[in-house]
Amino acid sequence: MVGAGISTPSGIPDFRSPRSGLYSNLQQYDLPYPEAIFELTFFSHNPKPFFTLAKELYLRSYRPNVIHYFLRLLHDKGLLLRLYTQNIDGLERVSGIPASKLVEAHGSFASATCTVCRRPFPGKDIWADVTVDRIPRCPVCTGVVKPDIVFFGEALPQRFLMHVVDFPMADLLLILGTSLEVEPFASLSEAVQSSVPRLLINRDLVGPFAWRPRSRDVVQLGDVVHGVERLVELLGWTEELQDLIQQETEKLNRRDR
Ligand code: OAD
Ligand code: ZN
Repeated sequence: MVGAGISTPSGIPDFRSPRSGLYSNLQQYDLPYPEAIFELTFFSHNPKPFFTLAKELYLRSYRPNVIHYFLRLLHDKGLLLRLYTQNIDGLERVSGIPASKLVEAHGSFASATCTVCRRPFPGKDIWADVTVDRIPRCPVCTGVVKPDIVFFGEALPQRFLMHVVDFPMADLLLILGTSLEVEPFASLSEAVQSSVPRLLINRDLVGPFAWRPRSRDVVQLGDVVHGVERLVELLGWTEELQDLIQQETEKLNRRDR
């Protein structure tokens, strides 16, 4: 399970960190309160703040970091049952983890839907408008086209239901870079069997690790990059991970050239 804390090393702010988090830096967007950027009622009255954020994520073309590649390495080794992410930056896909291994619980920009007639569109259809600060509109009914990011109160994607099968099967749960404050995602941390170790690598002690700890919990507090690098070292995978990062970075360099 991962959250915004795994993308801060890529330069993307998280949501709730004091000072650096997105929710403390939304003054420029003219929002009544920060979470409004992901609320349908506010969006229907003013979609601009959300699209400004979308444009920023798109244009800056952020890159995966060592955490994403560690997860990719778990996949390459056949150890990753599934990656449940709350992130909407798409960096798990960019790191080369196949879609079949991913549950993007809060949606993604890969697809979009007209808020009025519910017609689906490929995500890429919105960028021509968004990059010039135009609100993307449905060619059929002129309704605003919203990327399939899960707003507060909206249903999670169908794939999220895979948790019902995945979590009871897991024999280790890694939780990286999340405040575990948003439901129903947060409660997944309690869905593994009680005999299964849960490893939290995060700056703060969060969620059930604080208020309902289990005897097999392991907590590594501090910087997530440092925590993951330490784990990788203990596993003896340091060199292998460096090779993977180098290979994938060259691929991205060729893409961006
Ligand atoms: P939060 O911003 O709530 O939490 C990020 C967590 O990562 C915090 O506990 C930080 O302390 C920690 N963190 C950040 N950078 C770190 C670093 N370099 N090293 C260690 N820890 C670090 O983000 P999420 O839990 O992902 O919804 O937030 C959940 C949801 O709330 C998001 O998916 C978003 C938001 O509303 C949507 O986008 C729809
Ligand atoms: Zn429409």
